[in-house]
Amino acid sequence: MASSPFSSSSLLGLVVYMFCSLMAASAGNFYQEFDITWGNDRAKLLDKGQLLTLSLDRASGSGFKSKNEYLFGKIDMQLKLVPGNSAGTVTAYYFSSLGSTHDEIDFEFLGNLSGDPYILHTNVFSQGKGNREQQFYLWFDPTANFHTYSVLWNPHNILFSVDGTPIRVFKNLEAMGIPFPKKQPMRIYSSLWNADDWATRGGLVKTDWSQAPFTASYRNFDASNACVWSSGASSCSSKSPSSSNSPWMKHELDSTSQARLRWVQKNYMIYNYCTDTKRFPQSPPPECA
Ligand SMILES: *[C@@H]1O[C@H](CO)[C@@H](O)[C@H](O)[C@H]1NC(C)=O
Repeated sequence: MASSPFSSSSLLGLVVYMFCSLMAASAGNFYQEFDITWGNDRAKLLDKGQLLTLSLDRASGSGFKSKNEYLFGKIDMQLKLVPGNSAGTVTAYYFSSLGSTHDEIDFEFLGNLSGDPYILHTNVFSQGKGNREQQFYLWFDPTANFHTYSVLWNPHNILFSVDGTPIRVFKNLEAMGIPFPKKQPMRIYSSLWNADDWATRGGLVKTDWSQAPFTASYRNFDASNACVWSSGASSCSSKSPSSSNSPWMKHELDSTSQARLRWVQKNYMIYNYCTDTKRFPQSPPPECA
C-alpha cells in the first residue's frame, strides 16, 4: 500500500463515502420505492427515477403506491402541484392500511383557478373512523416550486408538516378511549384525479379540460427514518437502528414547534372539524377537548 496514492484509512474513507452517496442517491429512487398503480403512461418516472410525474386527462387520472409498508416513520416527499387552472383536480398523497378498520393519514390538495389558493385538506382515520378533517391555505404558491410534505408517525402522535412547519398534530389519546393508529402497517399512495363535483368551491368550479393534461411532480422521497414492515415484523432503517433509540420515534412538539403550529392554525386553517358545531351539535369529538 506504500506506493498507493491513498493511505488505507483514506481509501476506507473513500469507499465509505462512495457507499453512503450511493445509499443517499438510492434512498429517493422512485423505481426502487414505488409502483405505478393506474393510469398507464400518465405516470412517468424521469431522471433515472429521481422524478415522478402524474397526469390527468379526460380519460383517466393516474397513481402510484409504495412497494414497502411502514409501521411508524418520519417520511418526507416533495411535491409540485398542478399549475395554472387546476380547478376540479385533486392530488392526494396519503398513508393507508387495508380493510374496513383501516388507519389512514391524508394530505389532499384541492386545485383552483389560476391565482386562487389551493386548499390542503387533511384527515386521520383510526380503525376505520375518519371524519377528522382540517383544511388549510398555504403560505406560498405550491405550484411554483417543490415543497416538502412530511408525516411523522410514532406511538405518541402523528404530525403533519409543510417545509418543516407543523400544521397539524393528532395525539395518541388512547387513555381517553380514542383509537390511535399503531398496529397496522401502512403503504404510501398518491393519485391525481378529477373531483370537480366537490373539490373547488364545493363543486361550483368545474375542470377545464381544454387545459389537460394536468401534471403534478414528485421528488426527494425520504423514508430513511422509518420502520419497514415485512413478514409480520417491522425493522427500522440504519439511521434508526433500534426504534426505541431513534429521536423521531419519541418526537413530540417542543415549544417552538407549538408556536409555529399555532401560527399556522391561526392564520391558515380554514376548516376544523373540532369547531364545526353544525356537524357536532352536542359536543365536539372527544379528541378535540
Ligand atoms: C379557491 O378560491 C376561492 C376564491 O378565493 C376560495 O374561496 C376557495 O377556498 C379556493 N380553494 C378551493 C379549493 O376551492
